[in-house]
Amino acid sequence: MKILAIESSADDTGIAILEAKKVKNGTEFTICANKVHTQIDIHTEYGGIFPMMAKREHGKNIIPTLHAALKESKLLQKNTSKKVDVVLEKKLEKILARENNLGSVAIEFLRTIKKPKIDAIAVTVGPGLEPALWVGISTARALSLAWDIPIIPVNHMEGHVLSPLVQKGKKFTYTQNTFEFPVLSLLVSGGHTELVLMKDWMKYNIIGSTRDDAVGEAFDKVARMLGLPYPGGPEISRLAHQEREKSESNFTRSGRTGSEDIRGPGKLLSDFSSVKLPRPMIHTKDYDFSFSGLKTAVLYFIRDNGPLTEKLISQIAKEFEDAVTEVLVTKTEKAVKNTGAKTVIVGGGVSANTFLKQALTEKIKTINKKIKLHFPTKTLSTDNALMIAIAGYFQYQKKKPTKNSKKLVAQGNLTL
Ligand code: KG4
Ligand code: ZN
Repeated sequence: MKILAIESSADDTGIAILEAKKVKNGTEFTICANKVHTQIDIHTEYGGIFPMMAKREHGKNIIPTLHAALKESKLLQKNTSKKVDVVLEKKLEKILARENNLGSVAIEFLRTIKKPKIDAIAVTVGPGLEPALWVGISTARALSLAWDIPIIPVNHMEGHVLSPLVQKGKKFTYTQNTFEFPVLSLLVSGGHTELVLMKDWMKYNIIGSTRDDAVGEAFDKVARMLGLPYPGGPEISRLAHQEREKSESNFTRSGRTGSEDIRGPGKLLSDFSSVKLPRPMIHTKDYDFSFSGLKTAVLYFIRDNGPLTEKLISQIAKEFEDAVTEVLVTKTEKAVKNTGAKTVIVGGGVSANTFLKQALTEKIKTINKKIKLHFPTKTLSTDNALMIAIAGYFQYQKKKPTKNSKKLVAQGNLTL
């Protein structure tokens, strides 16, 4: 079967087409297309995502992205018939009425193409920004009606959990042996920080989560305090890496961590480790997290030690990444030990963080060399529709969806 997936929960408009074939003990997948139109440039200008702006951008980009995905999958066939189905188009107009100009653009597009060979549509229904989610849902409903195929509602976080299934190249398979259970998932994104235990395939139990800010959100907010552009994760990570390399070379050259004037004449901070930030909740007995205090600690540090210089910005970036990583690794380690997890999966935008990946890889090895650790490829760490297609496929196997899409709603706070 071929699934067309739609993702629009935050600032990326994603359309993917995935083919799934049953093979011995499992499924073989072929990626036909995975297109992402990111709104990062626009949100960078404003320093974060504004839901109504994200909605407007999804509305503008979703049909061109769909067009590109169908074209890449060789599923785009021109419709030469001049006949117009007036009744259908009236219904489509109604479905898309809330989405600015999307209705007229989508109807025009659908008129020009033949029904593609797609068997179902998977769409993210939550969690995420509701105005943004609605664009994807309304589009899915319109396509489902026009092409007479069912819709599979998908939880965005399930997409992140399953994203490490994808290997390099166009094909990947899932068999009963792909993951050994129990599986522990560390989900780290702009909206979530969760430890999820899977004792069985697709059975989720959230054993820990953040009590305030999500880790990606903390990266973004701290970056903003440091005058770095949105999204903050990659920027902080880049500066932290540079800072680490610099302190290491200083250390080897002088045999000490080095001591430098980082705030101008007469105001010495003793050495490279002078920026000290807390590791919130690192030793609590539960698996919960808290990042809002860490963010406030950065704010106070800047207030008391500013003005910010390039050097100070890099040092804060490094210490912040150290603090976040230490907390995430320590809590994951505790959860692995207590649950006896045999597989660890990391998913969500922050899983693109190289330092976290290194630290977690080392830690897991010290617990037990047999534990398998899976990260998604860099492009699948952040939001995309391919992971939604995968989750959609497995949901479809569990429960055949209907073509009645009237009940589909955006669920901003949907949980696993
Ligand atoms: O999963 P995602 O694309 O969107 C949500 O579902 O939230 O995650 C986006 C988040 C942003 O907060 C971004 O700053 C963070 O992921 N991020 C990173 C890195 N790349 C993206 N955080 C740390 N290091 C990175 N390399
Ligand atoms: Zn996400």
